[in-house]
Amino acid sequence: MSQSVTVDVTVGGRSYPVVVGHGVVERLGSLLPATARRVAVVSQAGIPLTVDPGVESVVVHIGHGEEYKSLATVEMLCDRFAEMRLTRHDAVVAVGGGMVTDVAGFAASSWHRGVPVLHVATTLLGMVDAAIGGKTGVNLRAGKNLVGAFWQPHAVICDLDALATLPERELRCGMGEMAKYHFLTGDNLLAMEWPERIGRCVQIKADVVAADEREDPTNRRGRAILNYGHTLAHALEIATGHDLAHGEAVAVGLVYAARVADALERIDSARVAAHDEVVRSYGLRAALPAGLDPDVLIELMARDKKVVDAGLTFVLDGPDGVETVPGVSESIARAALAAMPR
Ligand SMILES: NC(=O)c1ccc[n+]([C@@H]2O[C@H](COP(=O)([O-])OP(=O)(O)OC[C@H]3O[C@@H](n4cnc5c(N)ncnc54)[C@H](O)[C@@H]3O)[C@@H](O)[C@H]2O)c1
Ligand SMILES: [Zn+2]
Repeated sequence: MSQSVTVDVTVGGRSYPVVVGHGVVERLGSLLPATARRVAVVSQAGIPLTVDPGVESVVVHIGHGEEYKSLATVEMLCDRFAEMRLTRHDAVVAVGGGMVTDVAGFAASSWHRGVPVLHVATTLLGMVDAAIGGKTGVNLRAGKNLVGAFWQPHAVICDLDALATLPERELRCGMGEMAKYHFLTGDNLLAMEWPERIGRCVQIKADVVAADEREDPTNRRGRAILNYGHTLAHALEIATGHDLAHGEAVAVGLVYAARVADALERIDSARVAAHDEVVRSYGLRAALPAGLDPDVLIELMARDKKVVDAGLTFVLDGPDGVETVPGVSESIARAALAAMPR
């Protein structure tokens, strides 16, 4: 087997391995809890990775698309767990991108009040972001990820072989989050080989999560900094009717956050230029898509769930690094939009 990297993630006094490398899915059996006699494998049609847990297993497929990230899917999964008599000593294995690991993780968190879940992440975004950190959940009509639980996985497997079939666009989405990590730490992730690169992203997210597992709203440098670039990104996803995928929107959002920080005199023009360069170096577009109404974007940003009280709340770079900054005026937000590369 070629080289692999294992990152031990410690959260809330417990530690679990994240194994990154080519062919590492073969280690699934050895990573299961010793008590597991049955495994429910949750995946989606078209996901090329097959897994062999080495014990009795049942594969359950969930639908494609965010509308299947739902309580109905959780109910369907739990019905299947009941049929196969999955106990608390057994395990759920989620094989897929963030959509699968979020839903399967949430079903696992509530089945018998919690059974171990192992994530086999098959998208770049899943490997560097969604499978790490223990947030699970589903959408409601009222909004995304409104129902969920913190449920840390028992182990995570990032088999790089899965990335060979991943559509270009999905790869770009992962690169958007990677560019975000670049700014959180200053690490040039592009200078690393793939296993180290993903391992490092996992470590960066794990360190942030370890310090603030439950996202304490008063912690300005806690888990909230993982939303760097995300305030405009969420608005762009909605305003473009999802023409811009999440990671692509995050890339533009990072460049925008730099303009906001500049307008507040938190960073200098060289640091703003560095944002544009870094985003482009990760193969992403920095420019604001044409034809979007600034009023609509401001309105959408004001509705973003991370926003509190007066003014807009952003996660911004500054002399002490990236942190949450509340009370940003609408005129600053507008000026920063006007200063965006086109
Ligand atoms: N829990 C968290 O902390 C967290 C963080 C970020 C995002 N998320 C969630 O993650 C979801 C997005 O995840 P995603 O970007 O991984 O998308 P996704 O899971 O929707 O996967 C995208 C598409 O790629 C397909 N696919 C997956 N792996 C493949 C492979 N190896 N080859 C070919 N096709 C493959 C999937 O079947 C799907 O059609 C969102 O629901 C988001 O809310 C959660
Ligand atoms: Zn994101």
